[in-house]
Amino acid sequence: MSQLKPVSHLDSIPSTPGKFKMDKSPYIHRLRWHSSLTKLTFWSFLFLGLILFFFLRSPSSPSPSDPSRRSLRTSNWGGPSWEKRVRSSARVRSRNGLSVLVTGAAGFVGTHVSAALKRRGDGVLGLDNFNDYYDPSLKRARQALLERTGVFVVEGDINDSALLRKLFDVVAFTHVMHLAAQAGVRYAMQNPGSYVHSNIAGLVNVLEVCKSANPQPAIVWASSSSVYGLNSKVPFSERDRTDQPASLYAATKKAGEEIAHTYNHIYGLSITGLRFFTVYGPWGRPDMAYFFFTKDILKGNQIPIFEAPNHGTVARDFTYIDDIVKGCLAALDTAEKSTGSGGKKKGSAQLRVFNLGNTSPVPVTQLVSILEKLLKVKANRLMLKMPRNGDVQFTHANISLAQKELGYKPTTDLQTGLKKFVRWYLSYYSSSGKKSAG
Ligand SMILES: NC(=O)c1ccc[n+]([C@@H]2O[C@H](COP(=O)([O-])OP(=O)(O)OC[C@H]3O[C@@H](n4cnc5c(N)ncnc54)[C@H](O)[C@@H]3O)[C@@H](O)[C@H]2O)c1
Ligand SMILES: *[C@@H]1O[C@H](CO)[C@@H](O)[C@H](O)[C@H]1NC(C)=O
Ligand SMILES: *[C@@H]1O[C@H](CO)[C@@H](O)[C@H](O)[C@H]1NC(C)=O
Repeated sequence: MSQLKPVSHLDSIPSTPGKFKMDKSPYIHRLRWHSSLTKLTFWSFLFLGLILFFFLRSPSSPSPSDPSRRSLRTSNWGGPSWEKRVRSSARVRSRNGLSVLVTGAAGFVGTHVSAALKRRGDGVLGLDNFNDYYDPSLKRARQALLERTGVFVVEGDINDSALLRKLFDVVAFTHVMHLAAQAGVRYAMQNPGSYVHSNIAGLVNVLEVCKSANPQPAIVWASSSSVYGLNSKVPFSERDRTDQPASLYAATKKAGEEIAHTYNHIYGLSITGLRFFTVYGPWGRPDMAYFFFTKDILKGNQIPIFEAPNHGTVARDFTYIDDIVKGCLAALDTAEKSTGSGGKKKGSAQLRVFNLGNTSPVPVTQLVSILEKLLKVKANRLMLKMPRNGDVQFTHANISLAQKELGYKPTTDLQTGLKKFVRWYLSYYSSSGKKSAG
């Protein structure tokens, strides 16, 4: 699960293809006037030297863990046909439809939200950098799915401000659904920089571009239930303390909520943060327990189940993807307009935070029992003490605020949702011999 891949000199090519076109330099003008052979040779050498200097200075083998380098490799945008695809994907097809930029569109939640918006006639443009935190072929398969529904997913990084500005030049988005992030709790110990790159720098970049856009879009973005951290009062309500994060991931999400407050306060951006509680379902994330438990049960591998001290139960408020999608759409539909223009605040704007959970925590041991029944295979359980490296013992959402303001009402229990997940899993990983679950 490492993102460290050999990088080539291609990494040093700027993300704007236009940048490579040489402008007419004074040297070339002077060449026209003094065309003696010696001068021509002299200037040619100087020119060559300058080019060589330029290439040698840009490192040919940058540190592979530098996420900004990684992102440059995947940036490949611009040109008339590219703009045409962007426009057509973002075209609104229903009366009063929205025009939404969805970041992280090739991700689990992003794919479902993009497809749902497109289905009801909204304009949707996706953005994703297809990083290899988990198997990128799954992201490509989701992209292909979206392609079939008419959603174009631009390949690029949210921290690339030139790209984001370009997208806003081409399309006047009314809304941004910001789902791109470095997810995962334990991975932060391996690659802390990726959390800073996407969840802090990337978020700030998205908000910077939104604040400068005319008109400013309204923003809905994914925070996380992990902001509740070591909070032990249950169920978790939006007003509970969130100043004791238990992981760097949680800390970056909490920081995101504070950053959102700032951009709302200074620039009049309308911002809604959604605290998702353990989302699962078809096309899900291979780094999450329900997913790799399924894989390991089928393979006969031992599955590690965490136990709290004194055999305490570890439980999660598992939330089915369709319920989350409904919450996301309701957040977009109830978002008020941003009030700023020309990068300046003109009045106060909406700032909201909602829990999107299922309100019924299920012990992880029960998750395993349900999977055993659905897969008709006995799991090889290994009980382990929960390490203190990011995970919390339980999560439980109080969703009455989302219920009141968004009409949010989850309807899928874990048994029903897992049945749909398992059906998808079996068909996805059997339909092609080449695919393997990570
Ligand atoms: N799934 C959950 O249980 C859960 C729970 C709480 C919060 N969230 C949050 O919800 C959002 C969506 O989560 P998900 O489960 O779909 O995760 P995901 O990893 O499947 O999706 C995120 C997508 O964003 C892309 N991405 C990451 N960094 C990027 C960058 N710098 N530029 C462009 N694209 C980038 C990734 O390639 C990926 O496709 C995330 O913000 C996540 O933190 C998810
Ligand atoms: C994000 O992009 C900016 C330039 O736009 C760059 O200076 C910064 O280093 C990047 N941040 C990260 C963490 O990648
Ligand atoms: C749930 O949150 C609401 C506020 O949104 C609060 O009034 C209510 O008391 C909370 N319920 C519980 C059981 O904590």
